[in-house]
This record gives sequence, structure tokens and C-alpha cells, in this order.
Amino acid sequence: MKKEEAKKRIEELSSELHRHNYQYYVLSTPAISDFEFDMKLKELEKLEAEFPDLTYSNSPTKRVGGEVTKEFRQVKHTYPMLSLGNTYSESEIVDFITRIKKIISEDVEYVCELKYDGVAIGLKYENGKLTNAVTRGDGVQGDDVTTNVKTIKSIPLQLQGEDYPNIFEIRGEVLMPHKSFEKLNQGRISRNETPFANPRNAASGSLKMLDSAAVAKRHLDCYLYFVLGEDLPFNNHYDNLVAARKWGLKVPNYIAKCKTTDEIIDFINYWDKARSQLNFDIDGVVIKVNSYAQQQQLGFTAKSPRWAISYKFKAEQVSTKLLSIHYQVGRTGAVTPVANLKPVLLAGTMVKRASLHNADIISKLDVRIGDTVFVEKGGEIIPKILGVETAVRDLFSIPVEFVRTCPECGTQLIRREGESAHYCPNEEGCPPQIKGKLEHFISRKAMNIDSLGEGKIGLLFDKNLIVNVADLYDLKYDQIFGLEKIYAADLEKKERKVSFREKATKNILKGIEASKNVSFPRVLFALGIRYVGETVAKKLTEHFQSMDALMSATYESLVDVHEIGDRIAESVINYFENENHREIINRLKQQGIKMEIEDVVGLKSQKFEGKTFVVSGVFQNFSRNSIKEAIAENGGKNVSSVSGNTNFLVSGDKMGPAKRAKAEKSGVKIITEEEFTEMLNG
Ligand code: IVH
Repeated sequence: MKKEEAKKRIEELSSELHRHNYQYYVLSTPAISDFEFDMKLKELEKLEAEFPDLTYSNSPTKRVGGEVTKEFRQVKHTYPMLSLGNTYSESEIVDFITRIKKIISEDVEYVCELKYDGVAIGLKYENGKLTNAVTRGDGVQGDDVTTNVKTIKSIPLQLQGEDYPNIFEIRGEVLMPHKSFEKLNQGRISRNETPFANPRNAASGSLKMLDSAAVAKRHLDCYLYFVLGEDLPFNNHYDNLVAARKWGLKVPNYIAKCKTTDEIIDFINYWDKARSQLNFDIDGVVIKVNSYAQQQQLGFTAKSPRWAISYKFKAEQVSTKLLSIHYQVGRTGAVTPVANLKPVLLAGTMVKRASLHNADIISKLDVRIGDTVFVEKGGEIIPKILGVETAVRDLFSIPVEFVRTCPECGTQLIRREGESAHYCPNEEGCPPQIKGKLEHFISRKAMNIDSLGEGKIGLLFDKNLIVNVADLYDLKYDQIFGLEKIYAADLEKKERKVSFREKATKNILKGIEASKNVSFPRVLFALGIRYVGETVAKKLTEHFQSMDALMSATYESLVDVHEIGDRIAESVINYFENENHREIINRLKQQGIKMEIEDVVGLKSQKFEGKTFVVSGVFQNFSRNSIKEAIAENGGKNVSSVSGNTNFLVSGDKMGPAKRAKAEKSGVKIITEEEFTEMLNG
């Protein structure tokens, strides 16, 4: 195809696909089949591959993601992103209206909207094109998440019609519909990953992922509620929202103009009931003064506008039967009682369990097996039990007796003075506690062995290959290769397999080997000594310089260290008094784990002195962080964006093309992982 012809076809396809996207995701009235849509998309992809310079940044093909960001650029908001004052009762709504009437003598019209429970986003459109998407951040500046937002199909990349302003911003809320949320969590549970507590956290976590292709798979949606700009077509909020809808933006229909307090209250009451029918979460209603002139007259307080307020719904409650109680042992050994309930529908999801927290709560509520209990859902996955309907209680019911022994290992439970939780003291023999220690050891801020996740650690543990952290370094290829395990997700009976084939096995061993470069302070943190977090680990290692010195430290010499108190000192002493711990540390030392501060000034060399680096993309043999660490340890400076002052751009796979272009333009030397390693070793 000739270039001219290709250009025409690309434009044709893009505009058709934008339109179908709108029909499907905004209006929910698709005009063509999914198959036809995919065919058109494939055709466009092919043309773009053939003629890369004809690819527009807002092409419909950009919705599948692909660009990997290292960290989000900070962008200043054109208009600060404020929050709203909250109210919880009718009388507070009445107060709000009375306050307004005192300032404004004419009639005031209000717009009532839903308060979407998601993540605030500001979308900037220039000449009809989405150019920028920024999160709230601190209200003054936020993260530039444009690449991720482009994967949300209900957000138009190109507006329709012609009467939109040249430049304007529209704000709204990115959220995760219930269905996507449930599917996502089922997957996470089956892979032994922690599920998200609620759709809002899931949306927020998804929006902040660095790999936009992964974001595309999260199926986010976005509802818009606030237009801002210098030349908007109307002088009031409502009409501009309706206009925005005509430009192809997803402004939901659930908005109403109200004149009186009664109308507002009716809107609130209606949606308090009807919200259970929605396929996404709302946590209240927002009431706004419609006229811009009146808004201006009312102005702002330091944090929020005086012309708008939110009304928060009370958490929904239902009653159901308590069938039984089981006890969960956490990574720290804390034992949590969990109520098994007769399944009941609450806030759109089926509830089967509720947390009972600890023995005190059980006796305070005096819940008994067979009781009818009130359950409330407060934004978390696990709802809570509020009380018991004692009037209908079984005459012969008896108070619950808290378990005395660990349900995982049978050890007698203890309760420390002043604490409400029961603990299993068998730190070294209780499976969830052992796994917890291993997971902490490999975690990102500790040894950063990211080729081993929770599920994989679980599998190695179950196969008896690792019992403590030193065992990791004895693992051999043949022991790992071929292992597999079927996990049953507990939300649905779907099964998933974790298996170690050649690539996974090699990666695991490579990751373990690479962790030998992790610095001593992080090694100390990784051991998981009670009260020794990252900061304390740094302080202790700075002071004692080596594991040997720390192990032989006395209580007095420990509390002498600035900011180390008796609680930490005791915990450290206790830890090293334990024969097992000393043996593990000995083995780690022999295996080549760093057990001392490397250089008195903290630098390995001055090799990179005066040189500035940007590290971007994904690397074969190192994590991005370890490359950065190596730069710093050798006197170099890490910065996040390329500029004329940058000396080297260390580029990995999936580095954004923009970064490369910028480096080329500013004459920054682009080096590969291998070249960097040579520089480091040479
Ligand atoms: S208007 C100055 N409208 O709730 C007016 N906000 O607590 C700013 N929200 O920051 C916002 N639904 O993240 C507005 N229909 C709606 C909303 C809404 C949800 C969020 C938004 C806002 C927060 C305020």
C-alpha cells in the first residue's frame, strides 16, 4: 500500500474504532460485533506496524498498553484538586443549605450526583485529544498516569463533534466494577496472592502499576463529574456536564437538578436503597450549587468549596446466622477468630465470613454459635459483626470458649500482658509463621528475590525443601525443576497450577544468587527480628558495622545507640541468644551473604563520581533497584528523568521510546545492561 493510501485508511479506521468504542463502553449499545471490532483493530495494528510514523499517540491501538513506566512524572494541576466537606445526616444538609441562603439571596439550584468510590483523576483534552491524565496526589500535584488511563476503554482518546473547547479538563473517578473486582481477587487468591480489600483499593493499585499492559487487563471504568476550563460553553455545572456527554465523555445519567431540601433528601434516600443495584461502589451523594456565578460568590475554605458537599451513606447492615467459628494463624503467630456465617447478600456481594478480631471482642459481644448476628460492611472485604439479636437466641446456647492450642501446630497459645491477641509461640515450627518469615526475607525491601513470590515459597515449603532462610541458598536445580502444586481458589472452586519449568527454575536460582549482593543493613532487616524494621536495621548496622559485633553486643551497648530503646535491645538480645538463629546466620555467612558494612564511608569506589545516571526499563540479570544501588555505591548519582545534565541512560527492555528520543536529543549516552556491567567491573 502506498503511504498516502495507508494514511487515509489509518484515519478512517481510527475514527471508526473510536466511535465503536464509545458505542460499546460509554453508551453500552454496541453497533458491531466484537469480532468485527477486532478485525478492524488488527487491520489498524498491521498498518501502524508497516508505517510507524503514521501512528498517532491516541490511536485506538494504544488501549492495550505496552509502555512500561519506571516511576510516574509529577504534574502540577492547573486547578488544585480539592476535596469535599462530609455530612452524615439530614440536619447537616439543612445546615449546608441555610449557610448558602445566608450568602445568596436569589434562588439557588442544586445538582445532586452520586459519590463514586474510586480514585480521583483529572483528564486534560487539547483540541479534542486526551493529552494528560493525572491523579490527585497532594491536591497541588499528582502522578502522570496517562499511559495507564489510555487503557480504560470508556475514556475517549478522541472527542466527538466540534464544539468542545480547545483546552479543558474533566475530572472524575476511576473505579473497578464489581465483576472485574471479583474476578481479579479470585485470580489473586488462587495464585496465593493477597486479595484487594475493596474495589477502590484495587482501582488505585491498578492505576499505579508500572506496566500499562497489565493495567489494560484490570478492566477499569471511569465516571466523570466536573468540567473545568476557561471557555466552557455554559455558565453552569449541569449544562457543561450534559455538553461533555455529547463530546463522548462518560457522564452518567444519575444526576438530578433539585430546588428544595426535600428534593435533595429524596435523591439521597432513593440512592441509599438503589445503590445495591449498581455494578460499582458509591459511598454517598454529592450536592453542588449549579450556577458558576453563585459558586464564585460562595468561594472556598482552605480545603474545600463552600458550594458543594458530600453526604456519606451509612454502612449497610443485615442479619444472618453464625454457623461456626474457626481460627486463623497469621504470619506473626497472632490467632484471629473468624465467624462462618450463613451466606447473605450485603452491599452487592455474598458474605460468608466476618472477623471477630480477638477473645475480648467475642466476650464483649457475647456471640454464640447459632446466634442471629448483625453484620456490617465498612469498605473492607471482611465485614464485621456488630451485635447479637439476643431475643431470638437458643435457650441452651453456651458462651464461646476461645481455642487454647494453635490450630496449625497444636502448641499451647499464649497471651502477652497488655495485648488483646492470642499468639502461637512456636515461631520456628508453626507453618504459617515459617512461611511468613520466608516471605519477609525475600520481599522487595529485604533480599528482593522477586523471582520467588508467596505462592512459590509456599510450594517449596510444602515440599520440605526450605524450612528456614538459609535453606534457600542450598536449593539445587534438580530439586526445584518439575515441582508443581494445584491451588484451589476458595472463592470459587477454580483450580490453578503453580509449576516450575526450566525458565522459572533458572530465574529462581538467579534471583537467589543475586541476593548475595544485598547490603548488610537489608540483610539484617530481612531476618525479621521483632521491632527491627528498615530504619532500626540501618542504625544498628551503622553503629556495629558487622554481624559479629552486633551478635556479641550487650544490652547496655545496644541502648547506647541513638534511638535504640530497651524494647528493641531486648528483642535483639533474645534473637541472638537462640541457638537456631545463630546457626542460620552462620550458614548465611558461609553462603556468601553480606554480614558487614562494606566500606567505612559506605562507598565501594569513586568510579562513578560526578556522573549522573537514569536507569529505565526491565533488565535481564539485575533488578532496576540493584543497578541503582550499584551506581550509588560507586559514587554516582541517580536521577529519574533524562536531561542535558545526564551522563548515561542505562536502558533495559520495554524502555519507553520517549525516553530514548529525549536522550538522543540531549546527547546522553545510552548504554545496555552489559555495557553497564563492564563499566562497573572494568
Ligand atoms: S466534585 C470541588 N463530584 O469525592 C469539587 N467529587 O470527597 C470536587 N467524588 O475529590 C469534587 N464522586 O474524588 C465530586 N460526583 C462527584 C464525586 C466526587 C466522587 C470524589 C472526588 C472528590 C472526593 C471528595
